[in-house]
Amino acid sequence: MANPGAQEVLSGNETLAWHDGLLLGYGPMDGVHQEFVQCVSALQQAADADLPAALDALEAHVLAHFGQEDRWMEETEFPARECHVNEHAAVLESVRGVRQRLAQGESAVCRRLALELARWFPGHADYLDSALAHWMCKQRLGGKPVVVRRDMGWRRAMGHDASGQDR
Ligand SMILES: [Fe+2]
Ligand SMILES: [Fe+2]
Repeated sequence: MANPGAQEVLSGNETLAWHDGLLLGYGPMDGVHQEFVQCVSALQQAADADLPAALDALEAHVLAHFGQEDRWMEETEFPARECHVNEHAAVLESVRGVRQRLAQGESAVCRRLALELARWFPGHADYLDSALAHWMCKQRLGGKPVVVRRDMGWRRAMGHDASGQDR
């Protein structure tokens, strides 16, 4: 599902935080991804009593976020979109399943979901969303995305290009 080379592995108590390495160069997608990171981070840090509201907010976000990307792929006839669409559907299903269990008082399951999403997202963004971001830039702007990151000097030094791929 993910490209382990570009994925950051979070320890059990580490929260997902936005950083420029997550930028993909297609503005509308980057904005949505910052919201996703905020929602997951809020869920990870919520007190037990606040978990239902935080999970509701995450579910609403995920519906809009994945729905938007699915529509972009459909409208522009993005090739090989099935894998990406299926991954979105699987995550949404997990969120909904956990919502039901949280309603029965299973807070630990909700915390586990938050951690899994925090671990899942960088790989999904790097592997599937980045291809879509490149595609959308070509479709809408007629060129490759330009990504300006503040902390990418080390990546170039390590032989990676700006999209995080090996040269
Ligand atoms: Fe995304
Ligand atoms: Fe996606």
